[in-house]
Amino acid sequence: MLTEHLVAAAREAAEMAYAPYSRYKVGAALLTTGGRLFTGANIENASYGMTICAERVAVFSAVMAGERQFEALAVTSSGRKEVTPCGACLQVLAEFAPGIRVITSDAQGELNEYTLKDLLPRAFSLPAE
Ligand code: THU
Repeated sequence: MLTEHLVAAAREAAEMAYAPYSRYKVGAALLTTGGRLFTGANIENASYGMTICAERVAVFSAVMAGERQFEALAVTSSGRKEVTPCGACLQVLAEFAPGIRVITSDAQGELNEYTLKDLLPRAFSLPAE
């Protein structure tokens, strides 16, 4: 799948965001190694800490559909600057896809691409016994 298509899917997903508190809408589109697409948007809560990010909605939805291998993730937001996934989402991505490409887009549509290793160079993993 073309990177532009993945970004477009993330933009469309952001329309489903439930963000009455921050008014910051985030969309994520996750591509599996087999070519399936899963999307997510942030879902906020009056108890703010219960909010879930767009990226984790996409990953958990994919895992529940039986997918655990991911190739690329596009993230977009209603803000002007690019959004890179938060630390919690990076750790969740590291669980399933340490080699995933992360594509961001700003309001002008300028794309940037990172590896998960760029964004989270020393992800936590359980030490071997
Ligand atoms: N948010 C995401 O959905 N993904 C990120 O990577 C950063 C933050 C959401 C959470 C909350 O609904 C809003 O953006 C402001 O933090």
